[in-house]
Parts: sequence; C-alpha cells; structure tokens
Amino acid sequence: MQVTGTLNSRKITITAALPYANGEIHPGHITSTYLPPDIFARYSRLMGYDVVFTCASDDFGTPILIEAEKAKKTPEEHVAYWNKRDSEDFSALGISFDIFYKTSSKENVELVQYFFRKLYEKKYIYKETVIQPYCGYDKKFLPDRYIIGTCPYCEAERQYSDGCENCGRAFTHGEIKNPQCAICGRTPIQKTSEHYFFKLSSFSSALKEWLTRNEKLQSEVKNYVLKWIEDGLRDWDVTRDISWGVPIPLEEAKGKVLYGWFDNHLCYISTTVLYLDRNGKNGKEFWNSSEIYHYIGKDIVYHHYLFLPAMRLGLEEEYKLPEYIPTRGHLLLQGKKFSKSRGWYIGLREFLDKFPPDYLRFYLSRITPYDQSDINFDWDDFEAKINNELVANAGNFLYRALSLLQSRAGGVVPNPTNYDDADKRFVEKIKKIASTAGEQIESNELDKALKSILEFSSACNEYFQSKAPWKQKEANENCLYLAINAARTLGILLSPYIPFSIEKLSKQLNIDVNQTWDSASELAIKPGHKIGKPEILFKKIEKEQIEEQKAKLKG
Ligand code: 2FM
Ligand code: ZN
Repeated sequence: MQVTGTLNSRKITITAALPYANGEIHPGHITSTYLPPDIFARYSRLMGYDVVFTCASDDFGTPILIEAEKAKKTPEEHVAYWNKRDSEDFSALGISFDIFYKTSSKENVELVQYFFRKLYEKKYIYKETVIQPYCGYDKKFLPDRYIIGTCPYCEAERQYSDGCENCGRAFTHGEIKNPQCAICGRTPIQKTSEHYFFKLSSFSSALKEWLTRNEKLQSEVKNYVLKWIEDGLRDWDVTRDISWGVPIPLEEAKGKVLYGWFDNHLCYISTTVLYLDRNGKNGKEFWNSSEIYHYIGKDIVYHHYLFLPAMRLGLEEEYKLPEYIPTRGHLLLQGKKFSKSRGWYIGLREFLDKFPPDYLRFYLSRITPYDQSDINFDWDDFEAKINNELVANAGNFLYRALSLLQSRAGGVVPNPTNYDDADKRFVEKIKKIASTAGEQIESNELDKALKSILEFSSACNEYFQSKAPWKQKEANENCLYLAINAARTLGILLSPYIPFSIEKLSKQLNIDVNQTWDSASELAIKPGHKIGKPEILFKKIEKEQIEEQKAKLKG
C-alpha cells in the first residue's frame, strides 16, 4: 500500500529480531519484538513514509542442528518447516512484514562472508588456538548445546555449556561441571582447535562515542551498556566447529563455520536490500539514507548494542548503524515466567483458536510500555480490558454511530447545520487526536497513543450520550454527521493496532481502507455518502472462556 502523506520523503527501515527456526513463536516475542514494529510500520505507511519492514528466520546454530538430528531431518528441512510455520503464524496475527526471509539465504551468506573478509583484512579478526570439548565416539567438537552438565554455580543438572537456565549465569569455555556429550552421553576429551576472534575490545571507544552521541536510544539501556564497556569488553569467539553455519571464507578454515550471532543480524541488511532491489529501488542506498529501527527484546541487548554496531563500525559504516533499537521487557503469564515444560504456557496458535487476533494485539499493545519492565499477561485483566475498553468503549461507539445513522437516516449521511457548543467542542477533538496520538507513536510510546485514542473514543460516547439522537423524533443531523466522521477517525487511528477489525469497519463505513493518518483529523465523510451494513465488531468475552484458560495452567 502506498499512500501520500505530508512527510512522504522520510525513509524508514524497520526490522524485528529474527526468530530461531526451531520452535513456535512465543507470545513473549510477539509482545516485545513483533507487535510494536508492526504497529509502527502500519502507522508509518499511513503517514506516507517510504517504509520497509523486514524479518527472517534465524537458521544457523547448534540448537537447530541438534533438534534436526533428533527429528532425523536435515537442518535444511528442519529450518524450512519452521520458516513456513513462523511465516503463517505472523500472518495470522497480522504482522505485516514486506518480506520474511532466512539467514541461510544465498544473499545473506554472501554478505556475511563479505563482512568477515573485510574485518579480517583490517585485522579486526584474528586467530587463536583454543581448547574445545571433543567427543571421540561421535568424532565431533561439542560447542554450546552439544554439552550437558552441572551448573558450577547452583548445581542444577542437565544444563548446556553456554549457561544455566536455573540461575541465569552464562559460562565460558570449560566451566560446566561433569560435561557429557549431548548426543551419546560420553565424557568428552579436550582437543585444540583454531578459532577466529572478533576484536570487540578495540571498538570500546568508538562504541562509547556512538552510544553517547545517539540520543534516540533508550537511556536506561544505554547506561548499562556503557557500564559493560567501562568494565571492559572481551574479544568474541566467532567460530564453531560444526557443519551448519556460514562457512568461514578462508582456505585454512575448511570445515569451520561462523557463530550464529555473527551472521544473523547481517540478515537485517541482506534481506532488506534484497527486497528493495527486487522492488525497483537501490537497496543499499535506501538503507544508508533511511532511519533504521531494530526492534528487540531485552535478552539480546548485548548483541544489538555491541556486536552489531561494532561490526558495522569495522566496515567504516559502509552499512549505516541504527538510530533506534527499541527494547522491551519479558512477558509473564499470571505473574510467573512462561514455561512450556511446567505447563505454564499459552501458545500463539492455541490462543488464536479461541480469540480473534485483534484481541491479543489490543491487549498486548495496551499493557506494553516503551521500557524494559516485565509485562504481565493476566487473564482477568485481559477480559476486563477487552470487555470494558474494546467492546464497551470503542465497539459501542462505532456500532451506535453506524446503526443510528442507518435507523434514523437510512444510512445516508445528513447535512450538518449550525453547530452548537457541544458540536464545536467535538469537532475540535476530532481535529486534534491524530496529531496527539501520532506524536506518541513517533516517540515509540505505542501504549500511550492507544490510551489517547481510547480517551477520544470515550469522548465520542459522551458526545453521543449527551445528544441522545435516539430520543429525538427528528434525526439530529449534526450528531449523526459528526459521529460517523468520528467513527472514521477512530477507525484510522486504531487500524495499526487492530487491523482485521478496522478492515471490517471500512466496509461498514463504505470507505477505502487506505486513508492517511493525517486525514483522520478531517471530516472526510461527506453528506450524501451511503454507509454499508452496520454490524457488531467485537464480541464480549465470557467468564467461562477465561476460567477455561486459567484451568489449563498447572503449577
Ligand atoms: O535471540 C534470538 O531469538 C535470536 N534468534 C535473535 C536474532 S536477532 C538478530 F538477527 F540480530
Ligand atoms: Zn558423543
């Protein structure tokens, strides 16, 4: 969709952190990583900005290789399955990527190898001999998840060698106790291997300068990243002795691949550029002249605020660094961590089987702030917010505006006459709300913008209530005219949040869905316009539905 807005020269690149092609999309990722950029992308399109919104599956790495081996599939088959499934889930939730591609694409592999060569030439990558666990039986080096053992800090058993899920500590090489091969259970031996390291330490001052200068990054995140720099950055082992990954493009490194975190974020660039090139633009030029937003959850701050910018700085910003890295917190379920194994979980598909996608979008947008605090999905609160705010506030007004116009004026918009004071005050509200909410979205405060829109909806209900057109014998022209226009305004502003419902509303209003954001401040539905058939947009959630969900939770 391409519409003309007031600032359509603004170019915007939006990416969302790439889901591992290794399991279903988690509701927590929706909250922090996929819904906020989708709302922003939809808003940006309505503003007429030149916007590209991209994502991809994160295909490489040891966990994926292990899962593929367990399922007796090739890693290619395994990631193809999850790529397709993720893509379907995103569509079901209305996440409007322009492209959902993959880190294992030819284009990404080429870009990653290009980055490696450049960094190597500039001596930002060096070689060192390391000692690695090796399984003599499987004849394999055992990085990361190929080792299972006991946490040296909390003694939790069956932990992977890269960190403990129980106490949350990360381990370095050789730290895990009682290491065992994850494939055969045997005790590994230690063997030397040549590894390539990225000199993260030599970017300390450049990173510090970039972070300090960039005022658009969230200051609370920036402060703790600056503290990490202050404490000293360690160089980063970017090598894995496994078969599944981007091959290290050096003759001497045959059989070695790059660590997944070296290649995955470069896929933001390769995928965006590919999409734009295919669509008649110069992708690289667009990337470098656009405002770049990388949306993430708070668990991957280190990678996005340090590795990612350092690698781009290493290529002298041949590819521009981001202006924004909107970072949001973890999602809890009824106050506790989600856990599939402990039965404290709701899957996305399961959710969408029971409730419309817009209910999830609405609720999550409503409770997710622009910061790192944890967000709580609470079933009773979900019921209350949907029933009181979406159904009884917005839904009620929209239905009344349409159905009263239908019953009082045969669905034909009347001519307004002299406005009284209440009409005038209401017109002012219609004129103002798009800019109020727009400013909040521009500063990433999507939850606040939604609140403002809902306040506007309450004002619409109050106006309608005070005019009570249903009580009067004569059709109240001004009220019907202004209410139907306010319904359009509300529809445009809610469309980034609940696009499926607003598409239906557009049909009922009998207007094009592609209205511009700024036009929400206009009275664009003219006298004489005939609306479509009014229908109730949102159904109330029943108590039993909530009880059924709560009963599913164990623990
Ligand atoms: O943490 C994760 O789920 C990773 N797959 C995110 C990758 S984002 C990237 F590509 F930068
Ligand atoms: Zn083994």
